[in-house]
Amino acid sequence: MTTRRFTRALVTGASSGIGDAFARLLAARGVATVLVARSADQLADLAAGLRTEHAGDPGGDVEVLPADLTDPAGLQKVCDRLTDEDLPIDLLVNNAGAGQVGAFAELDVQDAETAVRLNVLAPLRLTHAALPALAERGGAVLNVASVAAFQPVPMMATYAASKAFLSSWSEALYEELRDAGVTVTALAPGFTRSGFVDAADAEDIATRIPGFVWDSPEEVARAGLDGVARGRALVVPSWLYRVGVAASSVTPTLVTRRLVGGVTRRLR
Ligand SMILES: NC(=O)c1ccc[n+]([C@@H]2O[C@H](COP(=O)([O-])OP(=O)(O)OC[C@H]3O[C@@H](n4cnc5c(N)ncnc54)[C@H](OP(=O)(O)O)[C@@H]3O)[C@@H](O)[C@H]2O)c1
Repeated sequence: MTTRRFTRALVTGASSGIGDAFARLLAARGVATVLVARSADQLADLAAGLRTEHAGDPGGDVEVLPADLTDPAGLQKVCDRLTDEDLPIDLLVNNAGAGQVGAFAELDVQDAETAVRLNVLAPLRLTHAALPALAERGGAVLNVASVAAFQPVPMMATYAASKAFLSSWSEALYEELRDAGVTVTALAPGFTRSGFVDAADAEDIATRIPGFVWDSPEEVARAGLDGVARGRALVVPSWLYRVGVAASSVTPTLVTRRLVGGVTRRLR
């Protein structure tokens, strides 16, 4: 299988967790980066470190683009960067994401809407903006979904459904773009040690989840980038979750939703 190389990647959600790991690994692989998130200071610190570490190397070429992807103006700013032909992007990493844990009826509906905007609508708009430049250069899109995409998840209903959209949409685009030379890869991590747990207000739940099911952001990002380099449609980073996804695919939804709901209700 051929391994592809990229020149310049735009990574959303680069200020922490898996996105930070993508930025570091890309820089180490000699890929210039454009880093997107809301936290301008965190992005600036990361960029400064990468410029020093990779000085004189293409990996030290780091742009910072602070933007809120749930805000139309912020999203447009990133779309404009993706269509800028001066320093074209050949890898788009749609990594920024968020979710809430809890019964849908009790959660703030604005937060649920924001999660759909970030997890679904932002990747949709950014990918559409990026495709002409990607098609010219045989580029790629990496969409960070989740193992939550493969079955309904009571108590994380909106999050899991948003990731189901992302995963299904990615795989459909993978086929649509086959002849255009663009690949679209869905990355489906399981539990990953990052800021996600805090952002979802789920620290108490995280302490009750056994250590062996957690992956590091570096392991997840590396698996995603290796999968993109190999032109894969779907990457599930660890063997444990590959077994889970395979089991989920052959089990009736009636069973998986009850099983998963039984676990998630007890965790809350
Ligand atoms: N951690 C897990 O267990 C896990 C499992 C499966 C999938 N995932 C997925 O992995 C991806 C990365 O999450 P993570 O685990 O690395 O969590 P994280 O550490 O919380 O990172 C989330 C990133 O998204 C950015 N972000 C959040 N809201 C944003 C907005 N409105 N506009 C722009 N950027 C925004 C955050 O930066 P700012 O706050 O600076 O904006 C941050 O850089 C997400 O798509 C998540 O759904 C995570």
